[in-house]
Amino acid sequence: MKKKWLIVGALVVVVAVIIIILTGRGKSDTLKIGVIMSTSGPVSHFGSQCRDAMLMAVDEFNARGGVLGKQVELIVEDDEKNPEKTMNALIKLVTKDKVKVVLGGLTSDCTLAITKEAQQRGILLFTPTSTNDMVTDAGDLVFRACFKDSFQGTVMAQFAIETLNAKKGAVLYDMNNDYSTGLTKSFEETFTALGGTVVATESYAGGDKDFNAQITKIKAEEPDVLFLPDYYNTVSLITKQVRNQGLDVTMLGPDGWDELVGQAGEEAVGGYYCNHYSPDADDFDVEQFVAQYRERYGLTPNALAALGYDATYIVLEAIERAGTDDPQKLKAALMETSAKYVTGHITFDENRDPVKSTTILKVVKGADGKLTTEYVGVVNPD
Ligand code: PHE
Repeated sequence: MKKKWLIVGALVVVVAVIIIILTGRGKSDTLKIGVIMSTSGPVSHFGSQCRDAMLMAVDEFNARGGVLGKQVELIVEDDEKNPEKTMNALIKLVTKDKVKVVLGGLTSDCTLAITKEAQQRGILLFTPTSTNDMVTDAGDLVFRACFKDSFQGTVMAQFAIETLNAKKGAVLYDMNNDYSTGLTKSFEETFTALGGTVVATESYAGGDKDFNAQITKIKAEEPDVLFLPDYYNTVSLITKQVRNQGLDVTMLGPDGWDELVGQAGEEAVGGYYCNHYSPDADDFDVEQFVAQYRERYGLTPNALAALGYDATYIVLEAIERAGTDDPQKLKAALMETSAKYVTGHITFDENRDPVKSTTILKVVKGADGKLTTEYVGVVNPD
């Protein structure tokens, strides 16, 4: 008799456990946010730091009790800097994980591949880092945390003419990359408008490794400055070949040069580029962020990390203000953003692009013989 009751009791416990598991499933006590980052592939130094800074920001919110009473969970997909994979990642995050908010992508070509799809599906897409002007054109649910290429292209052309007194400019760019072509256009327009002459515009295709033919043509025109609108991996190859050919020119670049100091040799010294922040800036938010990131990851955070951290803060704070992650309500809360972050004070204009400043940095050789950057100045938008 006793045995019978024991079996019945055990069965009741098993059934209760199954019921608890089944009813618990589907009900989520976490707030899921999708992330699409290029954490492997040609710009993995960018993607991995950006993701790590996002995780750091989320942990800070979670330690304070989460957002809307829930712990925040980032679901991270790697697109390897391949726009087709960016699209696959978006579809997976939306259909399988059922997220309503996606942080990403990293590079402009990847982000441009998904902006329309995200908008049509009613997803709030917030890219920390994609600077191409057209990124936010897809609709009212697409935002970014960084400035635009027309701004940084203009700033570098102005710097060339007004600070470096350049008269003749040249450009060597990737004709298949939206980021590179957009920057070329804005640099050339401003350089010409300010009285300079573009003496050579040469191009290559993404993945090329030999730029000698183009450099020979550029050298023949004797430019004062050479604009290289591409990412650190390609720029480090180009700078080497420029110096090997004995071309004595000041090289200039956009934010894609971030991480160049870790990849290039002496030949990059003397170059100038635009970036989203300087880890050496005398600024409370920067100091705190850099110290925390160094302690956690043992590295000085690059600009991608700073933007990933800011993007996560901007979005989570807006979710708190909206009281929901519903994209329509979140959009309105985002438009009210006006606060100081690591990469500067941020408000959004009517196209959901932030109004913020840029920092010009110079590539120099440090006391230890390694390349590093030197702060040159800040340029504010008009
Ligand atoms: N702005 C680059 C792009 O749109 C990505 C990038 C951001 C690179 C910040 C370096 C620093 O593709």
